[in-house]
Amino acid sequence: MEKKNANIGGSLQPMPKVLVSCRSLDGEENALAVAYCGNCSYDPPMVMVGIVPSRYSYKMIKESGCFVVNLVEKDYEKEFNYLGSVSRANENKLEKMNIKRADGSVVNAPILTDCPVNIECTIVDSIVTGSHEMFIGKVECVHANAEYVNEKGDIDFSKISLL
Ligand SMILES: Cc1cc2nc3c(=O)[nH]c(=O)nc-3n(C[C@H](O)[C@H](O)[C@H](O)COP(=O)(O)O)c2cc1C
Repeated sequence: MEKKNANIGGSLQPMPKVLVSCRSLDGEENALAVAYCGNCSYDPPMVMVGIVPSRYSYKMIKESGCFVVNLVEKDYEKEFNYLGSVSRANENKLEKMNIKRADGSVVNAPILTDCPVNIECTIVDSIVTGSHEMFIGKVECVHANAEYVNEKGDIDFSKISLL
């Protein structure tokens, strides 16, 4: 098989598509689309999200010290694309798209209730890797639609049509 050098940026695919929701210290709420995310520890459970410092959400996440990772189903694509292309600097996106929210049960950030899985995280560390700052979040609590949780408490991902 012939090989050719490809561009080195973004060569690891696919990346999960999630919505990261946050709340500023003065109570303003926001969410943005994030593809730079993943598990980074099983025990204790930790996930990481990469946020570009120019994002409106960046300061909110950095100052509040927490965020929520919301998994997105296919029928939420319109909302995902909107939250991933418009900035809170220009518009109150959550109000405009009627994004339903509830308070996190542990962290000071909203969960997006129309998303099937919501992972509440407290930031324990961060690394500036280049374009993104990777925020390492200790998983405090996971909410999942009851229909997706099996009798052992595990999420049955085969039942979720992720975006
Ligand atoms: C598919 C997709 C993936 C994205 N991944 C990231 C990401 O990993 N990190 C990031 O900072 N921005 C990412 N963005 C861009 C932000 O979601 C976008 O700039 C958003 O409008 C920022 O909102 P804010 O300024 O209100 O925080 C992504 C956008 C899309 C559509």
